[in-house]
Amino acid sequence: MSGYADLIQRDRVHSTIFTSEDIYQAELTNIFYRYWVYVAHESEVPNPGDYAVKWIGEKQVIVSRRADGEIGIFFNRCRHRGATVCMDAYGSATFFRCPYHGWTYDSAGSLVGVPYPSRYGEGFDKSALGLARVPRVGTSSGFIFASLAEDGTTLEEHLGNAVGYLADFANGSPTGTVSLTAGASKSFFRGNWKFVGMDGYHTNFTHKTVLDLRQRKSGPSAARGAGNTDKSLNESWDLGNGHCRLDLTGRDKVEVGAASTTSIAAGIPDTDGGRTYMRLMDEAYGDESREVIRRSRDVHIHVWPNLQLIGPSIRTVRPLAAGRTEVICYPAMLDGVPEEINTARVRSFEWFNGVAGFGSPDDTEIFERNQIGLQADYRPWLVLARGLEAEPRGNGSSVGNVTDEVPQRAQMRAWKTAMSQAGPTNDADATGKEAGAADREVTR
Ligand code: FES
Repeated sequence: MSGYADLIQRDRVHSTIFTSEDIYQAELTNIFYRYWVYVAHESEVPNPGDYAVKWIGEKQVIVSRRADGEIGIFFNRCRHRGATVCMDAYGSATFFRCPYHGWTYDSAGSLVGVPYPSRYGEGFDKSALGLARVPRVGTSSGFIFASLAEDGTTLEEHLGNAVGYLADFANGSPTGTVSLTAGASKSFFRGNWKFVGMDGYHTNFTHKTVLDLRQRKSGPSAARGAGNTDKSLNESWDLGNGHCRLDLTGRDKVEVGAASTTSIAAGIPDTDGGRTYMRLMDEAYGDESREVIRRSRDVHIHVWPNLQLIGPSIRTVRPLAAGRTEVICYPAMLDGVPEEINTARVRSFEWFNGVAGFGSPDDTEIFERNQIGLQADYRPWLVLARGLEAEPRGNGSSVGNVTDEVPQRAQMRAWKTAMSQAGPTNDADATGKEAGAADREVTR
């Protein structure tokens, strides 16, 4: 083989892309340090001075709401001798003071104080020693993305067909915003980050426990996703640029008449809280409210490379090594709705996504078994041939049966494109962009 591109073919992939440490390092360079990646949510830094410590690949960054309300992202690295200047995951502060020798930076990342400055010479220029900025920061429906490449594809171009689903997710709230204020479920697994994708084929097997429990509690109609067979109306979508989704609403579309004649949208309880929620949504979205609610509840998308929105949850994926991955899941709270609605979202999140839930731990177990299996690489090619002929749906998207490997092939094509290109066009460390330079933020 001559390069990474040879490892991805139309109907199969080579297992070394999941096991090679060299390839993992190349992924950091060619994907995580060049493409747009999800970093944080605006609700994690709601007020001026608020910050959150996050990661872009192996580089730790500070997402900071500056005094002027704008969001900046800086590398968490003192410009003196490199210590991290911010240790807490979240907080609010006027300044970041390095614990090593006391250099102090403001919330815009500018170096504002150096102890005992008389021992530096005439040419010592504090204005050139601000925290290094992540070159490009952009937001879409409250989701904050960053790119370490100084130039290149815009965030809008990268998100492409995924943009509407980010908006759909947030529009489950009458204010059109969600907040990550209900904690998170953080886990690690001993497997490759690319296993975390969209897979409608595994549901009836990996998640048999979930389906059995739902059926026992509420009858066969509650076992949503159990219809994921080759005869299902559910679909798998390639949205382009590596983004993909599952549409699990096939049965709902057939049954939509019954739900639309009631005063309550499908999935919303006929309780005081449910009725108040409906009233608020009607006031916010008018005649569109039921369709807005339906779309908000049906988001099931992977925004390549590292963000997933599924039901009420936001899931982030961070590679730590070829065979080690961090996954953080947040229940997204709808702003401006009765507490009952958000409580139900948290319970639903805990039930499936929590580290002691019935869903995500089974996925994690499979990912670890996958990694173990791939070490036995005597026959190294993996089969991704299911439903090769996806149906084009315009704007570069295509669709297949929910059990087809449309999402996997979509992500592998994006991987191949990224890994076939030259090294990063820019590296923030190399460009030395200083805090305080003109903003390059893109806001949707
Ligand atoms: Fe930060 Fe010295 S390393 S002040």
